[in-house]
Amino acid sequence: MGTEEKTEEKAAGDVSDVAAANDSLTVTDNRTGQTYELPIVDDTIKAMDLRQIKVKESDFGMMAFDPAFTNTAACRSSITYIDGEAGILEHRGIPIEQLCEKSTFLEVAYLLVFGELPTRPQFESWVHDVTHHTFVHEDIKKFLTGFRYDAHPMGMLLASVGALSTFYPDAKNLGDHVERYLATIRLIAKMPTLAAFSYRHNMGLPYVYPDNDLSYSENFLSMLFKMTETKYDPDPRLAKALDVLFILHADHEQNCSTSAVRSVGSSDVDPYSAVAAGIAALYGPLHGGANESVLKMLRRIEKVENVPDFLESVKNRDEKLMGFGHRVYKNFDPRAKIIKGHADEVFEATEYNPLVEIATEIEKRALEDEFFTSRKLFPNVDFYSGIIYEALKIPPEMFTVIFALPRTAGWISQWLEMIDDPDKKISRPRQIYTGAREADYVPIAERQGGDYIDGPASRPR
Ligand code: CMC
Repeated sequence: MGTEEKTEEKAAGDVSDVAAANDSLTVTDNRTGQTYELPIVDDTIKAMDLRQIKVKESDFGMMAFDPAFTNTAACRSSITYIDGEAGILEHRGIPIEQLCEKSTFLEVAYLLVFGELPTRPQFESWVHDVTHHTFVHEDIKKFLTGFRYDAHPMGMLLASVGALSTFYPDAKNLGDHVERYLATIRLIAKMPTLAAFSYRHNMGLPYVYPDNDLSYSENFLSMLFKMTETKYDPDPRLAKALDVLFILHADHEQNCSTSAVRSVGSSDVDPYSAVAAGIAALYGPLHGGANESVLKMLRRIEKVENVPDFLESVKNRDEKLMGFGHRVYKNFDPRAKIIKGHADEVFEATEYNPLVEIATEIEKRALEDEFFTSRKLFPNVDFYSGIIYEALKIPPEMFTVIFALPRTAGWISQWLEMIDDPDKKISRPRQIYTGAREADYVPIAERQGGDYIDGPASRPR
């Protein structure tokens, strides 16, 4: 018996010791008639406690089947609270609405990382540290110039964050608190630089170095848009709107990319590599890539008159309404409400964007339509963020990059929490095996069928 099996058996054996009369779940296995008492802690049962449920002693034991983790708590976390039914989002207990109104992104990043709002000296030192780590090694710049001229900036960001681990090899000393702090600061500080360099590369423009006199969001605008002027002068309304967007995207508990960071980080890899895994997960159109897809969808719809036909095709399942629906929110995404409020401010400072009218019409019609209401499909954070980014003259390929930038604060906070979690173990799901067993090897000359010379499309599945 391997160590893994021994540990599992021990966990299952502990059950009867700890089961309290009331805080427990009684389960009867109708195959055997046997009853089991499983302890309930924090409204959950331990999946490992199911393992004792067997028909015969040699059985592996029962598992929970949850392919997309729709009902599995994978960790304890005190960072972000979401009540999806009520549309509530809080960081360290503070409602997102208050943070967007009163705080700044860097203060929220501190709150996520350290668990409480900073005092003035703590905040000043944090801002100083982040501001003084914004430059990247010149070799990173060289590395980025090696990408094709039209490389997707998200692919460039993913590769360059992974590459950071080679510049800071000491970050793999996970027990070293100084290294952990340095990695935290470096990731939050360098992400805007890497994001902006990826954009400038894609546009064929020279890279702009950070300007440490500017705030976090002002500096990002400067690195994106500075041309021949000696000093970039950001519009405060746009810098504020961007800062609010950063706050809104800072963390969102155990979403796809955060679980990727935790899962990859559970192998004790360095934090740069773990965050690169998060960036990869965010890239997908069902997650952070949705804001780019929303914009492409709105452009395709072209005009308000085409909205009813488009919604019909969604209902016929020919299309997906990007920017709608959420695994957790079965009510308005509170972030979408806040973004919508800021959109008007941005449009005042920028040119009018006709896509807003299409988006407003979609929202109005969908919220009155039984197909969407019965499935609790409401606009999510990506529905409006894309239009704001477009108003800021940021191309759609950059939208997900701008999601990754503030989410780095969330990823690193979750990674830090995981590293110190006494329950931490390497992530390793189980499977229900559905393939062949005990098959014999057949020499290639004797094999029949399975012709797929027409290419991968005709491969047997
Ligand atoms: N358009 C049309 N129908 C939808 C949509 C949509 N956007 N989202 C869900 N549905 C339908 C789905 O077809 C299903 O219908 P039925 O029960 O008749 O088969 C029902 O609603 C439940 O959907 P689901 O696929 O079980 O929901 P999920 O929790 O697995 O998926 C989601 C959540 C976000 C992946 C999905 O809603 C989606 O694909 N939305 C569009 C992409 C998007 O905007 N993603 C950004 C999410 S917010 C930012 C982030 O956190 O990354």
